[in-house]
Amino acid sequence: MKFLFYLSGEHPDLPGSEVEAVLAGEGICYNVEYSKKRLLIVDAKTKNFNFITRLAMTKIEAEFVIKSNDLSEAAKAINKKISNDNYKNYKTFAVRCTPLDSKNSMEIEKELGEKIKEKSNLDVNLKTPGITVSCFTDCDFFAGIKINTCGNKRFDSRKAQHRPYFSPVSMHPKIARVLVNLARIKTGDTVLDPFCGTGGILIEAGLMGMKITGSDIDERMVRGCNENLRFYGLDGEIQTGDALELKDIKTDAIVTDPPYGRSSFTSNKNLIEFYNNFLDSAKQILKKGKFLIIVLPCEYKLDFNGFGVCEFHDVRMHRSLTRRIWVLKRE
Ligand SMILES: C[S@@+](CC[C@H](N)C(=O)[O-])C[C@H]1O[C@@H](n2cnc3c(N)ncnc32)[C@H](O)[C@@H]1O
Repeated sequence: MKFLFYLSGEHPDLPGSEVEAVLAGEGICYNVEYSKKRLLIVDAKTKNFNFITRLAMTKIEAEFVIKSNDLSEAAKAINKKISNDNYKNYKTFAVRCTPLDSKNSMEIEKELGEKIKEKSNLDVNLKTPGITVSCFTDCDFFAGIKINTCGNKRFDSRKAQHRPYFSPVSMHPKIARVLVNLARIKTGDTVLDPFCGTGGILIEAGLMGMKITGSDIDERMVRGCNENLRFYGLDGEIQTGDALELKDIKTDAIVTDPPYGRSSFTSNKNLIEFYNNFLDSAKQILKKGKFLIIVLPCEYKLDFNGFGVCEFHDVRMHRSLTRRIWVLKRE
């Protein structure tokens, strides 16, 4: 099945990387057919939409129908698609057009809507359509049938200040979810965050159906993390522990956000040495082929001995804080 994604504009490459990582994690074979200006078309060997509910950085998700400059041809292809089993019970539709250039999207919505209506039994309903035809105009025209993801993107409501245990160290839930997704794991796999703090990463992993384990050297954080997990109805194994001494833990991925500055726990150590010691510790428990996703200050170049660097992304965490997300694969 072909999927059309309209990616978030908040980062140049992270949204596309997230889509590919989730497909790979869920074990779905795929081929990227088009990737330009926030549009991504992927041919994926699945008829199941569930993987889409995991995505944090897509704005619109659709079943791809056609790329064409001819609206009559597009309407014909859309009518053919909506007459098939998946869509045949719907009675109404609307066309929503997102301009990728300066074209008049209202005119396109009207013209395409009329052409679809002419040759189908559907009525137009702009408020609560059964089917939404999502289209995008560039020098080309792309159309698909929007997939309803049931409001899975309420990240702001899970920001740190809305949890029972608050600490400003926690990152935005949307970034936390992307980190988990970059680890190329499937629903039901285990995620470890050995610097779990208040649990921002583990909450997103748990809400996606992963098993969660975590530790922190600070007992208050461990208590707070447990409280936060309970608040979201999640179960996790959270313990007090030093991330530099990981052992006897089985996990499918490590996803983590270690301290960036000198805290009471790192003050006696040079920060680079601290990170290198953590990488050694992570190496002990992570099996070959599994992923470590780690957020570090951009200026630090570690040698990542024992890991292959798959990708990295520089991301603004807060107004004045940019960090590098490293996607590392255990070799
Ligand atoms: C940047 S915060 C993590 C924030 C977390 N992602 C959240 O959502 O709250 C880093 C955490 O690492 C913990 N920490 C510092 N040194 C540690 C160590 N050696 N082992 C385990 N945890 C440590 C701190 O207590 C702090 O909670």
